[in-house]
Amino acid sequence: MHPIPPALVAALGSAQSVVVLTGSGVSAESGVPTFRDAQTGLWERFRPEELATPEAYARNPKLVWDWYTWRRDLVRQAEPNPGHAALAELEKLVAEFTLVTQNVDGLHQRAGNRNVIEFHGNIMRDRCFNDETVIAGWAGKGELPPPCPDGTGHLRPDVVWFGEMIPQAALARSFEAAERCQVFFSIGTSAVVQPAAGLAEVAVRAGATLVEINTNPTPLTSLAEHFLQGPSGEILPGIVRALKARAGSNNDRRTSP
Ligand code: OAD
Repeated sequence: MHPIPPALVAALGSAQSVVVLTGSGVSAESGVPTFRDAQTGLWERFRPEELATPEAYARNPKLVWDWYTWRRDLVRQAEPNPGHAALAELEKLVAEFTLVTQNVDGLHQRAGNRNVIEFHGNIMRDRCFNDETVIAGWAGKGELPPPCPDGTGHLRPDVVWFGEMIPQAALARSFEAAERCQVFFSIGTSAVVQPAAGLAEVAVRAGATLVEINTNPTPLTSLAEHFLQGPSGEILPGIVRALKARAGSNNDRRTSP
């Protein structure tokens, strides 16, 4: 059992607006390897930074396509874990809830979260290079990337590669939400990649309580008011239980004579 600080539950209970930033640690307990641990077996000798780039795709489309096919199979077999489920419940308990994720696996949406901003796209979609045509159903079928229907090259995964820009609308909505929130969670992310890591700093500067959940300390830990060390799949359900218990006891007090 991980003790949940009462001050954290109180801050959450009175918050109008909550922002959650997640990274690949949240999906680790679903069997999707964390971003920096991703390379096993056949793919051991490649670093993601060497495969997830437009240059790598131009150089060797089959190699990159095969890598995505492997990762898509992992994601298809994965199920949301209790951490994802707790975040879906949390969304229902808070007036304004924004979940910003760096994950491309879509597990938050499958768990039931509605207001999700995907910073890095979604691995289960493809799109054309030269326009915004998104193709949801294809996702790595076949051995080679198929040509785009518009003749502008081959389909590519609808993810943000190294050296590419995060979609402008996603960025703007996330920073606005970070400035407005009273509680900001950074969960299962190494917090080294900008601009995602900068979101937490913006929230803290605007007066929010920063809560970090991670199995290990990160560069954000010293800024956090509450650092809960451990697996998010265990800690998040505990937070939701504590929040519901607080709401229950507040109701009891209101209804008692
Ligand atoms: P990382 O692999 O950098 O970090 C995963 C974090 O999760 C680490 O800090 C771990 O300590 C923590 N962790 C592992 N298991 C956990 C668990 N069960 N519960 C809680 N925490 C756990 O992955 P990200 O931070 O997601 O961008 O990486 C961010 C971005 O860096 C990726 O989206 C990727 C890369 O650049 C792009 O692909 C554009």
